[in-house]
Amino acid sequence: MIRRRRLALLVLAAALALPSAAAGAERAVATAHPLATEAAEGVLADGGNAFDAAVAASAALAVVEPTGSGLGGGGFWLLHDADAGRSVMVDGRETAPAQAHETMYQDPPSDAPERPSLNGPLAAGIPGEPAALAHIADEYGALPLARSLAPAIRLAREGYEIDEEYRDKARFRRDVLMRYPASRRLFLDNGQIPDAGWRLRQPALARTLERLAEQGRSGFYRGKTAERLVAAVQDAGGIWQHQDLRDYAIVEREPVTFDYRDYEVTAASLPSAGGIGLATMLGILEGVDRGAIGRAGWVHWQVEAMRRAYRDRARHLGDPDFTEVPVERLTSRAYVEALRSAIDPEEATPSKALKQAERGRDTTHFSIVDARGNRVAATLSINYPFGSGFVAKGTGVVLNDEMNDFATDPGEPNAYGLVGGEANAIEPGKRPLSSMTPTFVDGPERTAVLGTPGGSRIITMVLLGILEFTDGGDADAMVSRPRYHHQYLPDIIEHEPGAFPAVVRRELRRRGHALEVTDRRFGDMQVVVRDRETGEAEAASDPRGRAGD
Ligand code: DON
Repeated sequence: MIRRRRLALLVLAAALALPSAAAGAERAVATAHPLATEAAEGVLADGGNAFDAAVAASAALAVVEPTGSGLGGGGFWLLHDADAGRSVMVDGRETAPAQAHETMYQDPPSDAPERPSLNGPLAAGIPGEPAALAHIADEYGALPLARSLAPAIRLAREGYEIDEEYRDKARFRRDVLMRYPASRRLFLDNGQIPDAGWRLRQPALARTLERLAEQGRSGFYRGKTAERLVAAVQDAGGIWQHQDLRDYAIVEREPVTFDYRDYEVTAASLPSAGGIGLATMLGILEGVDRGAIGRAGWVHWQVEAMRRAYRDRARHLGDPDFTEVPVERLTSRAYVEALRSAIDPEEATPSKALKQAERGRDTTHFSIVDARGNRVAATLSINYPFGSGFVAKGTGVVLNDEMNDFATDPGEPNAYGLVGGEANAIEPGKRPLSSMTPTFVDGPERTAVLGTPGGSRIITMVLLGILEFTDGGDADAMVSRPRYHHQYLPDIIEHEPGAFPAVVRRELRRRGHALEVTDRRFGDMQVVVRDRETGEAEAASDPRGRAGD
């Protein structure tokens, strides 16, 4: 259903020389959509920094990639302030509304749509993106919020031409879009999948963005926008209340940081499973002697590391403000060494033998550096394509279906096949556990800024990107590298068609691995690599995505 794209062609997204900067210094932007890249570049050219550019890119993506992220969703913005030498994660993840409860999807109301944790307003957590954008502009930006939101407002009002990717996703979500009149009117053409080249105009979203630009966060969480959101959600069987919106708060969190070989990795912390997962996997892999094991042997070790990291995800991880997570222990050297020493170099460990999984559909990532060396890696989401499929009338805002990232029925896999437990059970105000993993890797010579959409496979894609980079690969090599994935359950290595030569597949089977080839696209990675000495930067967009075409 989702078109495969050629893997070979690589495209530099953008890398512009900044005349006022030190010789050779560059800024670079990689996003999933050329119009979002343009919006970010325009802000940089106007004297904005990487943080302003991130606000501009996030808001533009909300308009031109309404299938993947937006004001009705959330995400993680990993920021590095070059002057302060400090990295921070702005956690704008959605929260469960006050009336949510642990078993709400096990016995849903009779008039709820099928799979109410994925479809319709009951699936929607309280959005975090508008609060995060206002916060980033106020605390880190050099330009007013209104300037950074201006390109998005213009794109929403004037419209832009939709492409095949939009049509694929509208087809996939047509039933739920048809169910809600505001969604049908906005995203379909008289109830039909619009033709390629159809112009999507979003005047209500333009006005919602304007209220945010004029009033900051209260322009969304209070007043007209809030009134319309709550009324529309309640009318359609949802449970949001005004207090939920007023209570929403972003959190600044310390990212997860650890060393791998000569590199320092900085990645998303809880409520993302990404940083901890990378620390586990790279910790295991650092101790492997690659000299004599051959290609299949190296893949075997990677897969065994993935299996164990995802087992721990399912068992231990959840919102740290609600649940005790043994982060210190899980990321300690002793623990990782114990995991490594239990791995048989010749034989796969069946997942069911370890004491106690999703599929990438949407979401978006962008990577930005400015000439001063400030950087942003941001992964943003409304979860499924078109989120919950529910547009709140009068706002143009598509609500997320991030509630499905909770363990809605402990032990039962979610939409991405992920299992979870008590640590990720639904509670009012709690953030659902995420796989989104914006990441920085600082090496002796170069720094990489990376991330990707792809549901449960995000963390392993970022792992493969880091392995490529630390083995000397450039931005192009990182985004185009063939991919494979293991997530503990189901107990299979899922891989792209060209990922392994026949001899490696045979070797892996001999070790007891089950392989499954998938023709679905595997992510949409956006990478910037910066030379630490010269400041020169290169950007690359995944050839599998629209910006990599
Ligand atoms: O936060 C998460 O882990 C998911 N909601 C991300 C979903 C996603 O990446 C879908 N993508 N292709």
